[in-house]
Amino acid sequence: MKKFGSVILAAGEGRRLKLNGTPKPLAPICGKRLVDFPIQVIEKFYQSQEEIGETTVVVGYKREEVESYLNSRYGKCDDLSYVHQKEQKGTADALMSYFSENKDAANFSYTIVMCADTPLIREYELTTLYNHLIDNNLDGVAASFTLENPYGYGRIIKKRDRNNESSSGFHIVEERDLDSKTEDINEVNSGLYILKTSFILSHLSNIKSNNKNGEFYLTDLFQDDFKVDTVLFEDGIKFLGVNNLEQLEIVGRSLYKEKNSILRDELGVRFIDSSSVYIDWDVNVGGGTVIYPNVIIEGESNVGNNVIVGLGSYLKSSEIEEGVEIKAYSHLENCIVRKNAVVGPYARLRPAADIGENSKIGNFVEIKKSKLKSGVKVSHLSYIGDAEIGENTNIGCGFITCNYDGVNKHKTVIGKNSFIGSDTQVCAPLTIGDECFVGSGSTLTKSIPDNSFAVARGRQITKEGKAHRFIKKNK
Ligand code: UD1
Ligand code: CA
Repeated sequence: MKKFGSVILAAGEGRRLKLNGTPKPLAPICGKRLVDFPIQVIEKFYQSQEEIGETTVVVGYKREEVESYLNSRYGKCDDLSYVHQKEQKGTADALMSYFSENKDAANFSYTIVMCADTPLIREYELTTLYNHLIDNNLDGVAASFTLENPYGYGRIIKKRDRNNESSSGFHIVEERDLDSKTEDINEVNSGLYILKTSFILSHLSNIKSNNKNGEFYLTDLFQDDFKVDTVLFEDGIKFLGVNNLEQLEIVGRSLYKEKNSILRDELGVRFIDSSSVYIDWDVNVGGGTVIYPNVIIEGESNVGNNVIVGLGSYLKSSEIEEGVEIKAYSHLENCIVRKNAVVGPYARLRPAADIGENSKIGNFVEIKKSKLKSGVKVSHLSYIGDAEIGENTNIGCGFITCNYDGVNKHKTVIGKNSFIGSDTQVCAPLTIGDECFVGSGSTLTKSIPDNSFAVARGRQITKEGKAHRFIKKNK
């Protein structure tokens, strides 16, 4: 039988987090959802213990939404499941639902309990807690930390008699049940526990709801005369929970900071000022890359080695290959930029833009759903949509693909080694062959074959000595 079963408590409504109907486990944070973090850290803990464990999410409020997210994100896999807590009668009741709905739950040797709203907990906290349980042969351990203002948290109440080694026990009093003797205690319960499953099963059904909230508290599993203990962690930040929008922001900033530290210290990414850079949790960035201030990289983006991401650039769900330079204030979304290409400043790459190796996309250029082969240059002020451009073709300043007729989008194909003069418009659908030369100021409406010269503009008229007719003088 498997050693670890984990349960993530996620049935609560999270009313204080005003997210316009989004259930708390799905609160967006650092490009992920709150509930992703406990799932991920538990999985890492199993791996570090070289164990295959199972994880169950207890859902309740808007459970269809939560389940459908989890299904889409993790698929229907054996080691992640859900159970439904029909009424939110407290954390012990949530645990009860877990054991009654998941028939395997009773068979795991140890049960890890985590809340859905504490995304900063890492393997270190889980491992430390687990080692304390094993080393001291305890039935249960709770992670605790101290807070100057412990308001809202359950307080850890310990026996004064520390001489008696066998009495490691303690109990927890929730905010509303505090009295004058206990309200000043600053050691608080984090909501992360590891317990022997057999111990939970022999005590869970004895828990009563005789407290001021009338709820079943799982914290009542900890009693002074039980073989239970706390591990007091110094870095309480790790246990910060998300109960309101301010905490969502604070915890989110902490995740961005952690992400940047990982990229810098483990992967060799260089920041000019990482405090102004926001990189989503699932983004990959390669070593040797330099990131300038005020950069945002979102979604499942991949940024290769030795890339430069210039000041104020925004990248979303994009592939940036090694050696690329993205100059300041560029905006990229769902696009690919291949090796050693240069983009920007002030470039906009829209979905399905594919920029070839060594290409150059200059300032105020917008590209959408177009494939540019290697060495293409579009250096200034252009719009390219629904196009294909061959190798080493040079597009002059102010080029426009007129791709839309008001109803449909049409395609432009330009061959390799062609030269398109400045201020050219092409009315798609239209093809320009290889090695063509188009005179500047042309409005092309017909395709041209390989090796052609084309020019399509009004003929110039020059009348010497006639300018005075057109110049209005100020009298
Ligand atoms: C809980 C602890 C408290 C601890 C604090 C740490 C209890 C009784 N109290 O208080 O000692 O200091 O966490 O953050 O456990 N949930 C359910 N079903 C329910 C009720 C809650 O699934 O019926 C889930 C919630 O969605 C949440 C978690 O359990 O993820 C904790 O519940 P919450 O109401 O936030 O407990 P706290 O008051 O924060
Ligand atoms: Ca909470």
